[in-house]
Amino acid sequence: MTEKQTGFGHRKGSNVENTVPCLALENLTKDFGGLRAVAKITLSIQPGERHVFMGPNGAGKTTLFNLISGEIPATDGRIVLFGRDVTQLASYQRAALGIARTFQITNLLPNLTVFENLLLACEALSRTKFVMLWPVSRYGHLLERAQHLLNDFGLGELRDEPVKNISYGDQRKVEVALSLATRPRLLLLDEPMAGLSSSETHSMDLLLKKLDPAITVLLIEHDMDVALAFAEKITVLHQGQVLAQGTKDEIRTNPMVQEIYLGVDVE
Ligand SMILES: Nc1ncnc2c1ncn2[C@@H]1O[C@H](COP(=O)(O)OP(=O)(O)O)[C@@H](O)[C@H]1O
Ligand SMILES: [Mg+2]
Repeated sequence: MTEKQTGFGHRKGSNVENTVPCLALENLTKDFGGLRAVAKITLSIQPGERHVFMGPNGAGKTTLFNLISGEIPATDGRIVLFGRDVTQLASYQRAALGIARTFQITNLLPNLTVFENLLLACEALSRTKFVMLWPVSRYGHLLERAQHLLNDFGLGELRDEPVKNISYGDQRKVEVALSLATRPRLLLLDEPMAGLSSSETHSMDLLLKKLDPAITVLLIEHDMDVALAFAEKITVLHQGQVLAQGTKDEIRTNPMVQEIYLGVDVE
């Protein structure tokens, strides 16, 4: 199996394919009753881009991910994935087009082993459905895929442990591994470092940096240092709006961002 197939790889230079944005949001808006959680967000993300979303708690980051992945419908605006308007598509249809995500709260099946969780995720998008009477060999490619993800994420030793028995940091790694099972082209990671110790954060950071450069990665991250280390571009949200957007150097030196991050408690 090549590096590309397992979801890891090395960064290559940009190429001509980078003309159609991976994702374009046009005036994307979400109201919850009287609360405008996402307010007319317009932005464009290039294929392979590493883009971090920052902003205080309640800024609308998770809601934005829920809109992009289709968990919730937009109130207004458009979502265009690889040139195709997906605003009206259900989340499973967007998943089939190559969007995968992790959630802020862990979303694993606690009584199943690490390997079983991975296998189910690999099976979910495969055309092969489990049929009890078929020999295991029929699922060989799924077993192989799950095993490769396990190895890539350094989870080999935990293969047969029920997920509820492994550390929180390892659970978060399993979640990122699960999100790659479907070979996504666009990956949304909602605070994968939240609640991790500093060594677990470092380990997750290394894994994220090893992701296949062809995969576009959107990351929600509170920590400015982690964000600056990972991102090519950063969008800072505040009260549902884009407060600032740019390269990491532009963001680092932006006075409004400094005020929000240095002057306001962002937990
Ligand atoms: N399902 C919902 N129903 C009502 N209000 C919501 C819902 N989801 C989020 N909100 C509100 O939308 C705002 C943005 O929330 P969220 O997107 O979770 O922010 P963030 O992820 O940046 O912390 C908050 O005020 C939150 O309370
Ligand atoms: Mg959130």
